[in-house]
Amino acid sequence: KVNSSIVIAIDGTSASGKSTNAKMVAKALGYIYVDTGAMYRTFGWHCLKNKVNLDDEKAIASACKKWKTSLERVDNHVHLLVDGYYPAREIRTAEVSSATSLIAAVPKVREWMKKKQRECIQFGNLVMEGRDIGTNVFPETDFKFYLDACLNERSKRRLAEGVQENLAARDQRDSQRAAAPLMVALGAKVINNSGMTAEETSKLIIEEIQRRLAHS
Ligand code: DC
Repeated sequence: KVNSSIVIAIDGTSASGKSTNAKMVAKALGYIYVDTGAMYRTFGWHCLKNKVNLDDEKAIASACKKWKTSLERVDNHVHLLVDGYYPAREIRTAEVSSATSLIAAVPKVREWMKKKQRECIQFGNLVMEGRDIGTNVFPETDFKFYLDACLNERSKRRLAEGVQENLAARDQRDSQRAAAPLMVALGAKVINNSGMTAEETSKLIIEEIQRRLAHS
């Protein structure tokens, strides 16, 4: 429990099924779903749009300080709006994926995101997916999950979604950056879901949450 809200942290590699499972778990439990990758992507998109030099950490950090954002709840999702707008489609391009991986390595950006992500508990119980939710954003939660699947399977899933990108390169960048790298949180249940359907994976997650709820 965080204050009086429950936070389920779902971290893991790219295309490990975090979004699909986090949404399924949120729906099953009646919790609110937060896609922190979308928050980072929105800032990546904003930087591209405003021609911020992505090789210049200081320029990125100052763009982060200046942008005008708000958090908005839509059904059981929380969105980060920029100037009142949520760029749902724009943030899913390969160009934004690459820019996002760069801006996500900047410590000031991560600090800013952490603050906004923690503010999401104002909306109620959360299922929050990302890379550092269990390690860094809500380290105090008892409900941590780390999803992974073999590279071959993850590539297939992304291809099936019609998005081609270099997952291994992004995972490496996400794991090796100095600021809040992707890693397994202490106390996290690790689920390698290669060969499993999303239904099977989310069932495992929900059972584990119920077991931990019963013991807390
Ligand atoms: O989950 P995703 O593919 O939408 O994430 C986009 C990028 O943002 C990816 O490079 C990892 C990064 N990210 C992060 O560093 N920390 C998070 N909590 C979520 C995403």
